[in-house]
Amino acid sequence: MIPNIFIPALCALTACSASPLLNSTYPNPEPCTGNCTWIHDPSIIRKDSTYYRFSTSGNIAIATAPSLTGPWAYQGPLLENGTSITINPNQDIWAPDVSRIGTTYYAYYSVSTFGSQTSDIGLATSASLDPGSWTDHGSIHIPPSPSYNLIDPNLFQDPTTPDADPWLVFGSYWDGVFQTPLTNLTSFPVGGSPGLHNVLRNSTTTGAAPFVVEGAFQFRYQNSYYLFFSAGACCNMPPDLPAPGAEYHIMVCRASAITGPYVDDQGRDCVGQNGGTKVLASHGDVYAPGGQGVLEEDDGRVVLYYHYVKPSVGYAADQFFFGFNYLDLSSGWPVVV
Ligand SMILES: *[C@@H]1O[C@H](CO)[C@@H](O)[C@H](O)[C@H]1NC(C)=O
Ligand SMILES: *[C@@H]1O[C@H](CO)[C@@H](O)[C@H](O)[C@H]1NC(C)=O
Ligand SMILES: *[C@@H]1O[C@H](CO)[C@@H](O)[C@H](O)[C@H]1NC(C)=O
Ligand SMILES: *[C@@H]1O[C@H](CO)[C@@H](O)[C@H](O)[C@H]1NC(C)=O
Ligand SMILES: *[C@@H]1O[C@H](CO)[C@@H](O)[C@H](O)[C@H]1NC(C)=O
Repeated sequence: MIPNIFIPALCALTACSASPLLNSTYPNPEPCTGNCTWIHDPSIIRKDSTYYRFSTSGNIAIATAPSLTGPWAYQGPLLENGTSITINPNQDIWAPDVSRIGTTYYAYYSVSTFGSQTSDIGLATSASLDPGSWTDHGSIHIPPSPSYNLIDPNLFQDPTTPDADPWLVFGSYWDGVFQTPLTNLTSFPVGGSPGLHNVLRNSTTTGAAPFVVEGAFQFRYQNSYYLFFSAGACCNMPPDLPAPGAEYHIMVCRASAITGPYVDDQGRDCVGQNGGTKVLASHGDVYAPGGQGVLEEDDGRVVLYYHYVKPSVGYAADQFFFGFNYLDLSSGWPVVV
C-alpha cells in the first residue's frame, strides 16, 4: 500500500457519521487485545508458540503475542537504524513480508515515498525474528519499470517444488502486480521462463490510472494457488473519502499453478479481463480492510489478517486497527466466517 502522510488526527463526529455504504453481511473481526493499533500491512509468522507481527511504521514494528487475539506486545523495530537503501531523504519503509526458508527468516520490505514510483524492495535476514537480530542486505535489484512500483513484496516457496527458486510478487498502480522468481532468495534472475510477468491488473481507469490492485499475497491450499490482494484507495481521510466501494477491500484470484494464469470465481482472467472475487469489504464499523496476509494454523484453520479503519474512532494512520477472521475454503473460494 501507499500510506498517507502519518499525521495523527481525530475523527470529527460529523465526518464520521458521513461514513460510507456499510455491508453488515461480513462477520466482525475476531477480538484483539494489547497493541492492536497503528497497524498497516501486517505480516504474521509463528515461531513455536509465539506469533510475531511485523507492520509498517517505526522502521518496521515487531510485536509478539501468545495468540492471534493477543495480548500483543510491541518489541522494537526490525531495522533499528533504517535501511541501507537510499532513494529519497523523505523515504519510508513499508509493507514487511516475513517468511522462513530452512532455518533463516527473510523479511522483504519496500522503500518509497507517498505517490512516487521511485521505490525499491530490500531484504533483511534473521535467525530468530527478534529486534536486534536482523541483518540488512539492502536492495534485491529488481529493475525499475514504468509498468510497476517496487513495493508490497511477498515471497512464496512452492512446497511442490522445494528446490526451485521461490516466487516474489510485488507492485501496485500502473500495470498492477508482477511476479518473479528470486535466485538464492536474494537475486533478480536474468532469463528463464517464466521470468518476470504480470499476475494482476485492472485496466478499468479511475481518473488517469488503472484501478489500483496491490499488496498481493500468495497462498496454496489443497491443490490451488490463491492470490489475495487489496484493491481501491487505501488511506483516505474525511472529507476526501472515495466513492463508497472504491475504498480498500480484499479480493482473490486463483490458479492451478503458482505462475498463473489467475482467474476469479466467474472465470474472468485477472490480468486481461479485470477479474477478481471479493473476500472482505467495508461493513458495520469496519472500513477499508486491506494490506492482508493469510496463514494456516496447526489445527488446519485458515486465517485472513489485515488492517482496517473504525469510522467511530478515526481515519488517521495511527488509528488503523489490526484485524483477523477465519476463512472457509471448502467451496474452493475463500469465504470469511
Ligand atoms: C456484501 O457482502 C456480500 C456477502 O459477502 C457480497 O456478496 C456483496 O457483494 C457485498 N456488498 C458490497 C457492496 O460490498
Ligand atoms: C504499539 O506498537 C506501535 C508500532 O506498531 C508502537 O509505535 C507503539 O509504541 C506501541 N505502543 C505501545 C504502548 O507499546
Ligand atoms: C545502530 O546504530 C548504533 C549506533 O551506531 C549501533 O550501536 C547499533 O549496533 C546499530 N544497530 C544495528 C542493528 O546495526
Ligand atoms: C547461488 O548460491 C550458490 C551456492 O551458494 C552459488 O554457487 C551461486 O553462485 C549463487 N547464484 C547466484 C546467482 O547468486
Ligand atoms: C476494476 O475496477 C473497477 C473500478 O474502476 C471496479 O468497479 C471493478 O470492481 C474492478 N474489478 C475488480 C475485479 O476488482
